Amino acid sequence: MKEKLEQLKTEALLALKSVKDKMQLEELELKMLGRKSGQLTELLKGLKDVSEDARKQIGQIANEVKKEMEKALQSKKNELAQAEMAGLLEKEYIDVTQPVLPAKTFGHLHPNTIIQKDLEEFFTSMGFMVLDGPELESEYYNFTSLNIPADHPARDMQDTFYIKGHSDWVMRTHTSPVQVRSMQKYGAPLRAIIPGKCFRNEATDVRHEHTFYQLEGLVIDKDVNFSHMKGVLEAVFQHIFGPETKIRLRPKFYPFVEPGVNGEVTCFLCKGIGCRLCKQTGWLEVFGAGMIHPNVLAEGGIDASKYQGFAFGFGLTRLVMLKYGIEDIRLLESGSLKFLEQF
Ligand code: FA5
Repeated sequence: MKEKLEQLKTEALLALKSVKDKMQLEELELKMLGRKSGQLTELLKGLKDVSEDARKQIGQIANEVKKEMEKALQSKKNELAQAEMAGLLEKEYIDVTQPVLPAKTFGHLHPNTIIQKDLEEFFTSMGFMVLDGPELESEYYNFTSLNIPADHPARDMQDTFYIKGHSDWVMRTHTSPVQVRSMQKYGAPLRAIIPGKCFRNEATDVRHEHTFYQLEGLVIDKDVNFSHMKGVLEAVFQHIFGPETKIRLRPKFYPFVEPGVNGEVTCFLCKGIGCRLCKQTGWLEVFGAGMIHPNVLAEGGIDASKYQGFAFGFGLTRLVMLKYGIEDIRLLESGSLKFLEQF
C-alpha cells in the first residue's frame, strides 16, 4: 500500500505539470483527492484489511502524501491566478485622457431573479400561491417530516451543513421542507410554489454549487392524479423553452413521493436530436417529482383517504443556466459585474 501511495503522489505531481487552466486543475483535484470517489479515498478503503500497527503507519504516510499533494495543487493554483492576472493587466489599460462616462445609477435583476419572477407569474396565473420558508431549517422539516429515515444517505454529514452546537438544525438541502409547513398552515386543497435557496456540502464544479436555488411546487386536492402532474410540468417547460418542448418521466426513488420520477425535457439546443449539451441523448435532466406519499400528507395533517397530491422540485439555477447558455454555475454567485452586466 505504501508503494501505491507513493505511486499516486508521483502520478499526481506528473499530471499537475501538464495542467493548463483552472478547470483542468479542479478535475485533477477531484480525481485525486475528491472526498467521495477520489483515488486517495479509494486507496484508503483498503486500510481495513491491514493490521492495526501497519494501519497507523500507513495512515501517517497517507497524511503526508495528502499534504504534499495539497501543497502542490495550491502552488499550481497560485501560479495560474498570477498568470491570469498578468494576462488581464496586459489587456486592460486606463486611458487617462478619456472623458468621464456618466455614472450608472440603475442596476438590474440577477438572471436567477428574472427566471424566478417569470415562473412566479406563470404559476400565479394557474392559481398557485407563492410561499416562502426558512433557510435555517429543523432536521424534522428537512428530513423526518418527508419520510426520510434516520439512516438515509441524504442526511450524511458530507451533503448536509449541520449547525455547530445545534445538532437538530440544518441549512435546508432542498425546498421540500416547505411542503409539510404549508400543509400545516393552509390545509387542503392547496396549490403552491416555493422558490428559494438551498445548501449542500458538496465539491463544487461547473454544474454543482454549495448554494443554489430550487423551485418546489405542490398541488393537493380531491381526485388529483399523475396526468395532472405531467400536464402542469409540460406547460411550465413549454413556457420556458418553447412550445415544441416535451417532457420525459422516468422512475426515481424519493422517500417523500410514491411513485417518484426523474424529469427530463427535450434539449432546447438540438431540439432532441442529440448534442454536446445533452450528451447526445436529446434530453436534459431538470427536476424530481411524484405523487405525495401518504405519510407526508399525514405529517401535514391532511387525510390521505380524501386528498391526494403531487409535488415537484426544479433546480432553478440549472434552468437559468440552460435558458441563458451559462456553462459554469459558479459564475451566478460570483458577484462578477463583467458576467452580470450581460443580462
Ligand atoms: C430534490 O432536492 C427533491 N427535493 C426534489 C423533489 C421535490 C422530488 C418534490 C420529488 C418531489 P434532487 O436532489 O434530485 O431532488 O435535486 C433537484 C434538482 O436540484 C436537481 O435536478 C438539480 O437540478 C438541482 N440540484 C441539486 N443539487 C445541486 C447543486 N449542488 N447545485 C445546483 N443544482 C443542484
